[in-house]
Amino acid sequence: MKLFPVRLSNINKMLDFYSQFNPSPLSIKQFIDFGLNACPRKSYVFLRKELPVRLANIMKEITLLPESLLRMPSVGLVSAWYVKSFEEVLAFEKTDPTEPNLEKFCKSLIQIRDRHSDVVQTMAQGILELKESRNGAVEPSTELSIQYFLDRLYMSRISIRMLINQHKIDKGNPIKIVYVPSHLYHMLFELFKNSMRAVMEHHGTENDVPPIKVTIVKGKEDICVKMSDQGGGIPRSQVDQLFKYMYSTAPQPPKSKTDLPLVPLAGYGYGLPISRLYARYFHGDLVLFSCEGYGSDAIIYLKAFSDEANELLPIFNKTSTRFYKATVPTGDWSNQVKGKKTKPINSDMNSKQMNAQTRRAGSVGTNTS
Ligand SMILES: Nc1ncnc2c1ncn2[C@@H]1O[C@H](COP(=O)(O)OP(=O)(O)OP(=O)(O)O)[C@@H](O)[C@H]1O
Ligand SMILES: [Mg+2]
Repeated sequence: MKLFPVRLSNINKMLDFYSQFNPSPLSIKQFIDFGLNACPRKSYVFLRKELPVRLANIMKEITLLPESLLRMPSVGLVSAWYVKSFEEVLAFEKTDPTEPNLEKFCKSLIQIRDRHSDVVQTMAQGILELKESRNGAVEPSTELSIQYFLDRLYMSRISIRMLINQHKIDKGNPIKIVYVPSHLYHMLFELFKNSMRAVMEHHGTENDVPPIKVTIVKGKEDICVKMSDQGGGIPRSQVDQLFKYMYSTAPQPPKSKTDLPLVPLAGYGYGLPISRLYARYFHGDLVLFSCEGYGSDAIIYLKAFSDEANELLPIFNKTSTRFYKATVPTGDWSNQVKGKKTKPINSDMNSKQMNAQTRRAGSVGTNTS
């Protein structure tokens, strides 16, 4: 499906063109080197190609989303933002890195960053709109596509914001740590929020509530941040659900009353999946272990060496296209609980699908087209 109307046929052509290129992943070391020796001209020349490539790669995937989701007003809003931003960066395609152009470029980047600041909330709203239009029942194949797509959309967004923020760095402001402060802040904020809620729900009526312990260790390969709480944990059967967008045991947030869905990002069930994307963005990870009845340990893994911490980026190609077209076959294993009809994706998955999913997970970053 063409996402954009005929009047935007030129945009569609440019999308086809730029989506043929794979994004170029950068390492933390490259980001730091740039921070220390910031050369706006070099950065401009890199970004005026790299930004359209990253935008086009993800915009092509928007076109592959299920029609039912594309029709939701909030999703339309998000795709319109992408079109606008794509157009804006293309305006610099053939302009020289002169001082006035560099200044205009910087202004455009800030405009783009601000325009996209509510993408996560707005997409979340779009998913809620879809659920509501279906009385809460979304087909498993649509749910699979949504989960796959949101991981890629948000990862692409993290990377684009990283590039924009880095371009605007001030040379007189040296970087002292080897990680992105705002990313660390986001992950820790979400983990604290989860642990604090769990502890208060589990021990809230007591005078003394057990503390949340944070352990930070730097090893040869990894830096680990472990957050341990005694919030009662979660059953093992629910662990697979935790990293799904839309999965939350918190009360559903209120619906926005205005056209602009400026609802706060709480209770959507986005805390863990987005935090894991931040960790994976530089080839780290985020995992959660739980002892039901006692508490949970959430661990953030980061790469200790900044030159090993390369960006992990979604690439639009045949593998990703195939994912959106995949159907969900009926299960060919018996259910664990007798008579219980389970619809969750993982429990319905047969071994072929599991292998396919493992292959997919492993194929992020490889171009098979
Ligand atoms: N430390 C924890 N202890 C117990 N349950 C947890 C813990 N962390 C997460 N969970 C469970 O996992 C679910 C999903 O967590 P996640 O952070 O993704 O979303 P949320 O907290 O529900 O909403 P949001 O983070 O978007 O405000 C939570 O609703 C909660 O049931
Ligand atoms: Mg949370």
